[in-house]
Amino acid sequence: MTRLNRRGFLGGAAAAFGGATLGAAAPFNILPARVHPAVVSSVNGLPYMEKALERLAEGDDTLDVCVWAVNQVENDPEDQSVGYGGLPNEEGIVELDACCMHGPSNTAGSVASLRNIKNPVSVARDVLLHTDHVMLVAEGALRFARSMGYPEENLLTEASRKRWIAWRAARSKTDDWLEPGEKFGTGAPRPTGKRETGTINFDAVNGKGEVSGCTTTSGLAFKVPGRVGDSPIIGAGLYVHGKVGAAGGTGRGEAAITACGAHLIVEEMRRGAHPKDACLEAVKRVVEMNTIPYLLDEKGRTTFQCQFYAVDVKGRVGAASIWPSPYAHGDGDGVRKAQTASLYE
Ligand code: GLY
Repeated sequence: MTRLNRRGFLGGAAAAFGGATLGAAAPFNILPARVHPAVVSSVNGLPYMEKALERLAEGDDTLDVCVWAVNQVENDPEDQSVGYGGLPNEEGIVELDACCMHGPSNTAGSVASLRNIKNPVSVARDVLLHTDHVMLVAEGALRFARSMGYPEENLLTEASRKRWIAWRAARSKTDDWLEPGEKFGTGAPRPTGKRETGTINFDAVNGKGEVSGCTTTSGLAFKVPGRVGDSPIIGAGLYVHGKVGAAGGTGRGEAAITACGAHLIVEEMRRGAHPKDACLEAVKRVVEMNTIPYLLDEKGRTTFQCQFYAVDVKGRVGAASIWPSPYAHGDGDGVRKAQTASLYE
């Protein structure tokens, strides 16, 4: 499973930690000699956290551990928001988005609108490892995956196909096509705000304060074909800085893209914020920037959900969301489900 060139990456880590300082980012220039390994993720990562922590303790690379954890969810047909069994686009085709970032080397890989390949996050890691690029999309990403030996398969399970058929029968009220003038008009709240956007974001720090993260999804259920959410966008659905921490998100991707959610969190942590407070800042930014009438309720509150998760190089974790939500985290004291800090009750 361990596919990173560990010598190269760990060498890069040593160079990174021994290199230039970040100037004003004083809190992160002096790290404790040892950090408690920790992981944080959307709640669907909980079953894989114990093993992930074990692997971190054994010295496995932080990115390998994150990729392994989300691969388990990608492989699970019961999770209809990620990988195999993910809910399809409006034409009934599963299109997957994923990205990863490796903190010790500050490198990234990403794929978007990838069809027929069950583990897009592994393909994203191969983009990181085997190309001089960060992001491949659609047909190009599929051809790359084929060339790397990934098998093609039908990702639409019978359960997901049935949900697509049911949605299609009622699509006039729940699709993504707007009436003329609707975006800035005064129409009633749209179901768009409540549509499913499950995803997994998984972030880790090891005993040396090395961080990585990854995010993978089948995206917005029944999306317009080719729609790309935040999950494969570096800075939106995931961001990692090797001297600061890792952050990512789930929920309405359009909002996380517009607010550059994950990048904002890492910048907040760089200024010294606790991961939870940094996540809350991103939530506030998303809400502040949402002025689309059909995504506001009668009280002017944002109707959709965005959740953010973060870990810093000191081993602290946190999460925040617009509406209350569970998330998962783990460390030397065990793994657990907890509630995010939320803007609304
Ligand atoms: N956050 C997942 C998506 O919007 O695609």
